[in-house]
Amino acid sequence: MDAVVVEGKQGTKIFTLEGAEYAYRVLIESMNEGALTLSADKMILYANQRFAGMVKMPLGRVIGGSFRRFLSSEDWVTLRALAARGDKAGAKFQTLLNAANGTRLPVQISISPLAKSDTNQATVGMVVTDLTAARQSEELMRSLTHRVVQVQEAERGRVAFELHDNITQLLCAVIFRSQALVDKLTASNASSKKDAIKLRDMLGNTAEEVERITHDLGPSLLDHLGLVAVLSDAKAEFADRTGVSVKLTCTQLTARLPADAELALYRILQESLRNVEKHARARHVSVRLSQLGEFVQLVVSDDGIGFDQDSRAASRRGKGSLGLLSMRERATYVGGALKIKSVPRAGTEIEVLIPTAARGGKAARKSL
Ligand SMILES: Nc1ncnc2c1ncn2[C@@H]1O[C@H](COP(=O)(O)OP(=O)(O)OP(=O)(O)O)[C@@H](O)[C@H]1O
Ligand SMILES: [Mg+2]
Repeated sequence: MDAVVVEGKQGTKIFTLEGAEYAYRVLIESMNEGALTLSADKMILYANQRFAGMVKMPLGRVIGGSFRRFLSSEDWVTLRALAARGDKAGAKFQTLLNAANGTRLPVQISISPLAKSDTNQATVGMVVTDLTAARQSEELMRSLTHRVVQVQEAERGRVAFELHDNITQLLCAVIFRSQALVDKLTASNASSKKDAIKLRDMLGNTAEEVERITHDLGPSLLDHLGLVAVLSDAKAEFADRTGVSVKLTCTQLTARLPADAELALYRILQESLRNVEKHARARHVSVRLSQLGEFVQLVVSDDGIGFDQDSRAASRRGKGSLGLLSMRERATYVGGALKIKSVPRAGTEIEVLIPTAARGGKAARKSL
């Protein structure tokens, strides 16, 4: 086929398929992507078989029709705007194609401007990539990450329980016995008494450390004290232990968040602080919790060495690491969104938005 003849109100129009030589056609027909050319008013002048297969329509019906029928009205506006921009480098957007059998196919459309002069010629070229498999892998990846987070949470709970119920009990008994020993030793055993006191104090410190680890592991404190108290606990413990100065600002929240949202925020803060300690070499950290309309926002920023989010080195470094991945998963799971901003030598900022009530993931992602 070298031309499309369209009978319209203003008579017959002939659209020529300039440049669609045999060799190119063979190439385009063998592609795994849909390929199309459109006229200025987005009528399909040429489409390959692959595209017809995507929209479940005979090729003869695809060619000569408007591309509009395959898009929602919102995405149609986007497509027209992108095509009108005529960006030489091309433009890409992701959408759902309405197929003739009523199904909707996730695709990426790449738009390239062709010619502008003659309205009877193809002015836009499009390559349509089926994203079904990519979406399925993303979905699988998300459910695996979620499972990892769930298992991690259950395991933390188990370890916290064991520590609290076994180790702490044992330590208390030993402290009690060492105190009895201190009491028993008289002034004539001054040196042994000194050692016994030292032993008792060391055991006391060990018990406190176990208690701290138990608190860190278990979310039970959240239930009793609420989010703000637990965040300020985590902040104080981190500052004491690492010597990094931490500024915590919390504005009054309009209502208490659902338990899973509070836990997500607490775990995200913990992991952010752990990353600061492990990687950032920061001197100052700022933690801000605020209410932004329907959302609670948590921002953790440091003035450390930062990292390059795009570089290969970063992805190699992050291989097998779960921190950033699980933070994002935790936020997404409670309907929120997480954004990481990091610049080498200029610090890192983690921003989380979580809806206060109903799960509004899309809205949270849009706001970030
Ligand atoms: N605050 C930060 N400052 C500098 N680099 C950071 C910071 N946070 C993360 N990174 C970089 O991003 C990488 C990925 O972080 P992530 O928390 O996912 O993994 P990890 O901390 O290496 O391992 P894991 O959290 O699983 O113990 C880190 O290895 C580090 O290079
Ligand atoms: Mg980490």
